Parts: sequence; structure tokens; C-alpha cells
Amino acid sequence: MKLIVKTLTTAALALSMALPAVAADYTMRLSHGDNENNPTHKGALKFEELVEKYSDGRIDVQIFPSNQLGSEQEVAQALRMGSIESEILYTGNLVPLAPSAGVMMLPYAFTSNEEAHAAMDALKGPLNERLPKEAGVRVLGYFEKGFRVLTNGEREVKSLDDLQGLKIRVSKNNIAIETFKSWGLDPIPMAWAEVFPALQQGVIDGQENPYTTAISSKFYEVQKYITEVHYLIWSGPIIVSERYYQGLPADLQEALNKAGEEAAMYEREVSAEETAAAKEKLVELGMTLSGAPVDEEKWQEAAKALWPEFAADIGGEAWVAEATQIMTDAIA
Ligand code: MLT
Repeated sequence: MKLIVKTLTTAALALSMALPAVAADYTMRLSHGDNENNPTHKGALKFEELVEKYSDGRIDVQIFPSNQLGSEQEVAQALRMGSIESEILYTGNLVPLAPSAGVMMLPYAFTSNEEAHAAMDALKGPLNERLPKEAGVRVLGYFEKGFRVLTNGEREVKSLDDLQGLKIRVSKNNIAIETFKSWGLDPIPMAWAEVFPALQQGVIDGQENPYTTAISSKFYEVQKYITEVHYLIWSGPIIVSERYYQGLPADLQEALNKAGEEAAMYEREVSAEETAAAKEKLVELGMTLSGAPVDEEKWQEAAKALWPEFAADIGGEAWVAEATQIMTDAIA
């Protein structure tokens, strides 16, 4: 009897190895710019799992981390053309292509992660009325990684005076550039993939990104000081090429939307846990965490005064008025 069972099992195994795996109907490459230790990647893995579940395996998601398919801005362009299917990217890297998404970048618009969540969830529908025409992409859900904090290797920054003269990298968009200019700096716009080597080589003194990125990208090896400038929360939409999306049957479009929203909830939880752990770890690793600047109101005043000027960069006055109302209602 044992021999028969063993023979049948071996035969079944041989048969299963001989048969090709059932191919999915659609392949969806998903690019992002962070490495596998970052909450973005953990959220991407959850998104993959959920898409494959809700599509009954008809969509095969393939994740490409660490800018393997190109910089965040280059990949967003490829989505517009339909040559890459999907991406998770920092809003700041999407804005040059899709200005309307920039309302999430208005400096000091949010005082907590919860406020940002409410705003980004309320904006998803209205943005999907605009972004397909504007940039050939649509939003499936929004990741969030907390406030971007300023790191540098030169000196403790506790005030605007301490900041002066530092060479700080910002993402390549006008809002980030002008915000840092309002604080008296001449910031250096640079693609994300170039930041670590630029810090290492002293081309720049500092940068700003969430606490979790300071850990996953090992900034503690080349940076010493952190200041909590609460000007901007890292928001990052999961975007899909509109061409690809429109080529899917309605039930699979629904699967993507559901997976996007649920993966975002998961990533926000992971991010909150990892942010708390990252702060402790960075101190253990020798970094000095200074908290908020002592003159935070001055930073706020200078940056918030620019809001009217940003309208042209983020979709025009009518959209900014509509979007800020949506955000205000969502937060209330
Ligand atoms: C950036 O600073 O360009 C981004 O925050 C990087 C990222 O996507 O994590």
C-alpha cells in the first residue's frame, strides 16, 4: 500500500512539473524608488498579494524596487506612454508631470498623519477626474510615511539661522525649491537615486525625507543631525497607466482599486510602527535628533506666504480652491 501511495505521489509530482504554470491574463510591472527595507516596498508586496487575490490570479504583479526601471519621474513618463504599467512614487516626483497632485505638497497644510490620510483619501476621486487627462495616469491608493525630516552632516539645526548656508537636496519640483528658498537657502534639486552618493561625496550637506528612509537608505552613515521640520508629509500614490487601466475589464479595474486602497491602509500602519522604531534606532546609531526648530513659526510664515504663488504649479487657482476645500472638509 505504502509503495502504491509513493508511486502515485511521485507520478503526480512529475506531472505537475511537466505542465506549464497557468499564465495570468495580464502582467503589471510595479516600479518604486525605495529599497526592500522601506515601508514602500512592504506596501508594494501587500498590493501584489491583494491584486493577485482579487483578480483570481488574472493579473500578475511584478515589483521592481530601487529605481530599477528608471527614476521616479522617468517611470511616471513611461506610464503616460503605457510602456510601464504602474508605480508608487513620492508626490513631489509626480508633480512636474501631474501638477494637480501637488495640492498634497502645500507646505504646512497638515499637522498630523491622520489629517493627511483624510485629505488624500478624499482627493482620490477628484484627482482621478483630472490626472488621466493631465498625465495619463490614475491613483489607486495613497501611501504615507510621516513628516519629511531634515538631515545634515554639518551642524545641529535648531533655527533658521542655523540652516543658512547648508547645501540641501530637494526633489525636482518648484514647490520644494521655492519653499527652501523662502527659508534663505539655494536648494539643490536632484533625482532621488543620486542622493546617497552625493551625501557621501560632500556634493550636498543634507536632504529631507521620512525617518524610515533615514534608516532604510542608511543615511546615518553619512549624516549626523535631524530636525523635525513639519512642513510636508511624505505622500505617495500608487498610480497606474490610464492606457493599461482602460484595457482591463471592469471587474479587474475594481480589483485594482480595492487592492490599492487596502494596501494603502496596510502601508500606513507599517509606516507608523517603523517610524517610532526608526527614531530610537537612529539615536542608537549616533544621530542627534533636535526636534522642531525653536522658531518654527518663522519657517511656517515664510513657506505659507507662498501658497498663492504655487497655484500655477499645482493645477491653477480654480483647482487649488476646490482641492483645499475638499481637504479642509475631510480634516474637519
Ligand atoms: C524623494 O525625496 O525623492 C522621495 O521622497 C524618495 C522616495 O520616493 O522615497
